[in-house]
Amino acid sequence: MAKRVFSGIQPTGTLHIGNYFGAIRNWVALQEDHDCVYCIVDYHAITVEVDPQVLHDASINMALDLIACGIDPERSILFVQSAVPEHTELAWIFGCVTSYGDLTRMTQFKDKSAGKKFVSAGLFNYPVLQAADILLYRAEEVPVGEDQVQHLELSRRIARRFNSRFGEFFPEPTPIVGKGARIMSLADPERKMSKSAGEAHYIGVMEEEASIRKKVRSAVTDLGPRGDEMSPGVANLFEILELSADPETVAELRREYAAGTLMYSHLKDVVFESLMRVLRPIQARRAELVAAGNVEEILAAGAEKARRIARENMRQVREMVGLFPCAR
Ligand code: TYM
Repeated sequence: MAKRVFSGIQPTGTLHIGNYFGAIRNWVALQEDHDCVYCIVDYHAITVEVDPQVLHDASINMALDLIACGIDPERSILFVQSAVPEHTELAWIFGCVTSYGDLTRMTQFKDKSAGKKFVSAGLFNYPVLQAADILLYRAEEVPVGEDQVQHLELSRRIARRFNSRFGEFFPEPTPIVGKGARIMSLADPERKMSKSAGEAHYIGVMEEEASIRKKVRSAVTDLGPRGDEMSPGVANLFEILELSADPETVAELRREYAAGTLMYSHLKDVVFESLMRVLRPIQARRAELVAAGNVEEILAAGAEKARRIARENMRQVREMVGLFPCAR
């Protein structure tokens, strides 16, 4: 039987090329020979303050983005997390087999809470819900970018602790981390590309061409002398190039770099053109999907399929833990 894959993404506006190259491209590829469950994690998004209407629209927009990138709702289950309440139910149970100490060591929590006036308990418990997302479907493989690897380690510990306390039930999920797992900001190549850092720090998959051109052209390339080592900005441009251009183009530019004849303005032009060759068809597909106007139906059908699996697994978990069955 095909292995089950699970992954999730927060509905925070729009997809950026870090998400795309680091995760979504793998999500698409895995559909060929895996049983895939893909989730728009709106419960995770409310760990920080977000306007309700903005959140709702963002979930729908994220679904459009994902389908435009190649997620096929006929082959994969695509749904919004809050449509399947078993996620939060399992998260409570997992919270009771998660070590408080482990949660305090999560670097993402440290980063996201640093300097904030209000830090929600939800933000602290975030990785517990993530473990519940994956294990609710007993998924074995999880395609993610590098920043999620620590959360996956915790998911494995949670699975192990549950299994040793209540009996073997959950697999220990492993991350699938491919090329492009850590795309950096073009404006500040020593920090990872993300939406939270602001407009200048990410390139949207659906962003207008003129705006992308501007961001690529103004990418930071040199941060002072570093000896023979390639500067982080140039390395990041080569990384994006490798993910979007043909191997001969990459090899040629690498040769020029090694010979000391590479003009960064040329490198940037090639990166921009190669990137647009990847993004243009996705943007066109996105426009078609908006015109079709049936994304909410697609999500409802996905949630129904997801819930069928979730309900049955939760029924067994309740029994194992000694809880009562759900009221009808
Ligand atoms: P999120 O929404 O921040 O990101 C979605 C995916 O994109 C990857 N990613 C990157 N990859 C490469 N370079 C970057 N600069 C970059 N930025 C983001 C992320 O690693 C991720 O794979 N906690 C998760 C969502 C989640 C989840 C799950 C994931 C909730 N439940 C269960 C897997 C399984 C998150 O916030 O991802």
